[in-house]
Amino acid sequence: MLSPAYCAKHSPRRPTCRSRWFQAVTNQMKEIPVSDPKTVKLLDGSSNRSSDLPLISGTLGPACIDIGTLYKDTGHFTYDPGYGSTASTKSAITYIDGDAGVLLYRGYPIEQLAEHSSFLEVAYLLLNGELPDKPQFDRFEHQITHHTMIHEAQRNFFHGFHYDAHPMAMLAASVASLSAFYHDDLDVDDPEDRKMAAVRLIAKMPTIAAACYRYSIGWPFRYPRNNLEYVDRFLHMMFEVPSEPLKLSPVATKALDLLFILHADHEQNASTSTVRLVGSTGANPYASIAAGITALWGPAHGGANEAVLKQLEEIGTPDKVASAVLRAKDKSDSFRLMGFGHRVYKNFDPRAKIIREMCHKVLAELGVNDPLLEVAMRLEEAALKDDYFVERKLYPNVDFYSGIIYKALNIPAEMFTVMFAIARTAGWIAHWIEQHETSGSRIGRPRQIYTGADVRDYVPAGRR
Ligand code: ACO
Repeated sequence: MLSPAYCAKHSPRRPTCRSRWFQAVTNQMKEIPVSDPKTVKLLDGSSNRSSDLPLISGTLGPACIDIGTLYKDTGHFTYDPGYGSTASTKSAITYIDGDAGVLLYRGYPIEQLAEHSSFLEVAYLLLNGELPDKPQFDRFEHQITHHTMIHEAQRNFFHGFHYDAHPMAMLAASVASLSAFYHDDLDVDDPEDRKMAAVRLIAKMPTIAAACYRYSIGWPFRYPRNNLEYVDRFLHMMFEVPSEPLKLSPVATKALDLLFILHADHEQNASTSTVRLVGSTGANPYASIAAGITALWGPAHGGANEAVLKQLEEIGTPDKVASAVLRAKDKSDSFRLMGFGHRVYKNFDPRAKIIREMCHKVLAELGVNDPLLEVAMRLEEAALKDDYFVERKLYPNVDFYSGIIYKALNIPAEMFTVMFAIARTAGWIAHWIEQHETSGSRIGRPRQIYTGADVRDYVPAGRR
């Protein structure tokens, strides 16, 4: 539950907060005279050109300086590599307060959704802005259940991949190839078509993900079973073998559903921003989300869960933890503790807290005694009391524990980022839809500071 004090502190809509906030901004920018409490005046001393930049407030979080007219007014761009101070869009989907360790989907705290909701209900919430009532949820679930099949021709694509292709490579290619099957009736400007694309993507992602896995181990593909719910259907497609019936574990179902909820959205992270950038060109949703999948793959983003497990295996035993921490602090070594640190969270990642608890429960209930958990616990303990990590506010992130749970569920490390992609599809497509519903959306087109050669004349080859 968010405390009234928290809301008071974070909502610039409240008059007292608003004036406090403006005062803070004014203090921080002493050299910038503020002419109107709702604008920031930026004065370029060298040219005497100035720009009155409006301040924009959302429901929660700091106000933003709208720099849209800055170039026209002053001839200057802004420079913010990595976008540490830049809001790229307005969005009503997810809110993060990285300093307080708060994550809200459509206003609902992640802790409450993790405890009471399901992934499919969260997907509905992200897409529609409200929790569904029973008939709305039943309709949504029915739609998802009846769009899980992929075209037989698409199944054939898998045979073109080398047997040891990374599942993320197959996933990105397969999702992009959905564009080749659903292009005729897709108009990105039609709200119904956009909704249908969302249903198709959320429904087909587990089918494609399971096919990637089964192809990589040489097992026959499995068709989705309509009598199973979302997560069980996926587990069935992953693990069922022709020779014996599969016994689904409720612990596995619950754990996977929770992981999907926690990974469903995270505002303007690298992959979501990629989806929006590609979407801003008018590209179809399958192409946009395939781009998001490739962005997710990197070890600094969703690929971290695979990297965490590999690192824990490399560390191997609790007695090697101290030397791993030393290496991570050594600036001459590129080694980092995977699963630690976050661009936005400078406090405990609220998802990591939930996963940590779930991790212990899953291992206990499945009777798994994984020595890597001991290594993980020691690593967390050592990092949390080490000055280097404390000063830099480097806490375990969502990926630190997710890999251990996936491993306990017999999901191989190469599939970890694929699991993340299944869940994040709900967020990606919600953002893609929101972008198309926002009037005045423009193509994303950042500028640069050019540092190359000054203008020079071409020299013919013989005279170089
Ligand atoms: N281990 C050791 N040092 C670290 C780590 C780490 N995991 N993360 C950050 N640092 C250090 C940096 O070296 C830097 O130190 P300095 O100030 O002395 O130069 C400082 O902490 C700040 O780090 P930045 O790289 O500037 O932070 P940034 O916000 O750019 O990066 C990131 C965030 C990419 C998550 C980073 O912390 C990292 O690489 N972590 C490991 C990979 C990981 O777990 N990624 C998953 C993120 S969660 C997700 O995407 C789902």
